[in-house]
Amino acid sequence: MLSIRMRAELEGRHVSGAERLIPAEELDKAVKELIRRPKAYDKLVITVEKVKGIHVIPKALTIYSYDFKSVEEAHSFAVELLKKEGVPEELSRKAIELLKRGANPEGGNMRGAVLMDIQTGERLEPDQERGIRTVRVDWKDRKAIRRLLRERGIKKHYIDRLIDALALATKNVYCGVIAELCWSDDPDYITGYVAGPNIGYRRIKPMKEEGAPLGGRVYFVKSEAVVELIECLEGKAFLIENL
Ligand code: COA
Ligand code: AMP
Repeated sequence: MLSIRMRAELEGRHVSGAERLIPAEELDKAVKELIRRPKAYDKLVITVEKVKGIHVIPKALTIYSYDFKSVEEAHSFAVELLKKEGVPEELSRKAIELLKRGANPEGGNMRGAVLMDIQTGERLEPDQERGIRTVRVDWKDRKAIRRLLRERGIKKHYIDRLIDALALATKNVYCGVIAELCWSDDPDYITGYVAGPNIGYRRIKPMKEEGAPLGGRVYFVKSEAVVELIECLEGKAFLIENL
């Protein structure tokens, strides 16, 4: 199997990232798909790596979708869901404020996720500008999953993001992340989610105001297991079989 990863920059800024885990004979097709992904770029990097030892996840987190009239209501709902995973309200609120303000201490967005200690609220990622990225995860049959999501009424516009974010959130749970809070840094994309082993994958709109350029991810984690957790999120390869 191969891990194929694409990242693109425009004027020195990361604008697009995507990946595939595929059998070697599908390399050409995967590269063609990935290079079409960014709308505009002045640098695009493709990395191809052999991977051994793929872990199989039979079923992704269950998807639920909710619409609220205001960001405040949406956040309160997210806080209630996070309680079901054992995240105290105070910490969920802290995480929301962090993403609202921009979790990068230098200002703006991070390049990965915050790791927040579920006991103390302390940040555990070794580099707070970078954060931790979940990589090496894909669907066994991406085309079939796309079809199933369309059949379930997910609009075309949302599918690429949903399919990638659901894979990422599912892998996170398998690596031991207790719960996750996310909304995009894309100013046009205001649907976010919270996820966890008990609550599944809960899409929530609007998690931010239209046009807001700040977003991010907070993973609530146990501090004792953080080294193994990071190794899993960055290093272990996972293929998800079904919805
Ligand atoms: N955001 C911002 N910058 C990123 C980035 C991201 N997601 N991914 C890579 N970069 C930039 C950083 O500058 C990084 O340097 P750093 O490690 O100091 O931060 C540099 O590119 C090299 O990154 P690297 O980790 O070596 O990239 P990679 O070749 O392993 O590819 C991606 C990683 C791009 C596949 C991965 O980050 C990604 O975007 N995956 C898809 C994520 C996804 O589906 N997200 C959900 C969408 S809702
Ligand atoms: P996006 O949903 O792609 O707009 O990403 C939202 C935020 O999630 C980014 O600003 C990063 O902080 C973070 N992020 C992006 N890619 C990853 C990843 N692969 N793993 C963890 N966090 C990520």
